[in-house]
Amino acid sequence: MYDVYAVRKDFPVLKEVVYLDNTATTQTPIPVVETMIDYFYRYAGNYGRGAHRLARETTNHYEDAREIVASFLNAEPLNTVFTKNTTEGINLIANSYPWEVGDHIVTTLLEHHSNLLPWMRLQKKGVNITVINPDNKGKIDSYLLENAFTEKTKLLAITQVSNVFGSVQDVKGMTKIAHRNNIKVLIDGAQSAGHMPVDLKDIGCDFFATSGHKGLLGSQGTGVLYVKEPDVLESASVGGGTVSDVSESTYTLEPSPACFEAGTPNIPGVIGLGRAVEYVEKIGISKIKKHEMNLSREAAKKLSELEHVEVYGPENSLGIVPFNVKGLNAHDVALILDQTKQICVRSGYHCAIPITRFLKVDGTVRASFALYNTIEEMDILVKAVSELKALVS
Ligand SMILES: Cc1ncc(COP(=O)(O)O)c(C=O)c1O
Repeated sequence: MYDVYAVRKDFPVLKEVVYLDNTATTQTPIPVVETMIDYFYRYAGNYGRGAHRLARETTNHYEDAREIVASFLNAEPLNTVFTKNTTEGINLIANSYPWEVGDHIVTTLLEHHSNLLPWMRLQKKGVNITVINPDNKGKIDSYLLENAFTEKTKLLAITQVSNVFGSVQDVKGMTKIAHRNNIKVLIDGAQSAGHMPVDLKDIGCDFFATSGHKGLLGSQGTGVLYVKEPDVLESASVGGGTVSDVSESTYTLEPSPACFEAGTPNIPGVIGLGRAVEYVEKIGISKIKKHEMNLSREAAKKLSELEHVEVYGPENSLGIVPFNVKGLNAHDVALILDQTKQICVRSGYHCAIPITRFLKVDGTVRASFALYNTIEEMDILVKAVSELKALVS
């Protein structure tokens, strides 16, 4: 049995608000905050740079976090790079891959700007991109993907879970198709890690980027980038921490992951992320997935029953419910929910303008559920939205 009320004790802010903006960022549990405080109070030093006790302890904790995170995603520590977020991870690939004029990238209209703009920008270097449309429930047809591949296609860049719909793509199947065509695969896992099992060896993808501050329950300013074959890339950012030797005219890079982690990283954040992943593992990722999907399914069902509400997205969304109140602007709805019922939801384009326009709307309200949300909170949301009828009729 999943005891959501026990879990909630680790998130003090939940006494104040109905927090349903988990797709943007989640709350961080007390044990994770305490882990970060412990770093500051007991052993703060720099990472990988020093022989003294504090520097060594810091480095050990940082590397422990890498092992925990790598094992959680079924990756190896050497392939697991810490970044500041998903966006940085994806940009690192876009800026480090040896593109050639005429190369081709396939991506989708579902993508968050973070998995679209880095590829669009490569057009200036002569790289072409093709953007595949999903259906109106946020699903990508693998057949359309394969049809878009050409002899020049080097990369498929696709999100595992849409931040607008909560739709889940069969990234393992897509990776197989891409690899059959000698195409590398980058998965945007910002909304999958921590919300559903993610086994990178099983998926087989080449790159996977995620954030620490979403489903993984870590702090903002942390992220993870998986790179299956680090030698394919040329580090885009070099400096302290990335090299084993430097002469007057050249340098020798460290192997992965150090060559990709230039400069002093977010040490407390990364150490906290290791603790956060342990926290998620202890609760159990399958339980979390089931709990979040139950809440979103129920919320979508109840909201759809309201005449003045339009709900988008698939029935089996991974915890995300996009909707609109007919006749009201999405931001106004979010503001009213906040000011009258202390409900926090996101509104607008969700950093995904193309897919929101594809729905022919000027934004949506997005309620997104996490492991600590309750059925009572879901009912509070539905009741509050139902009361908005008075404003539209
Ligand atoms: C699917 C998806 N990709 C990328 C991002 C960017 O994440 P971050 O801002 O942590 O880099 C988000 C953020 O919401 C997202 O939902």
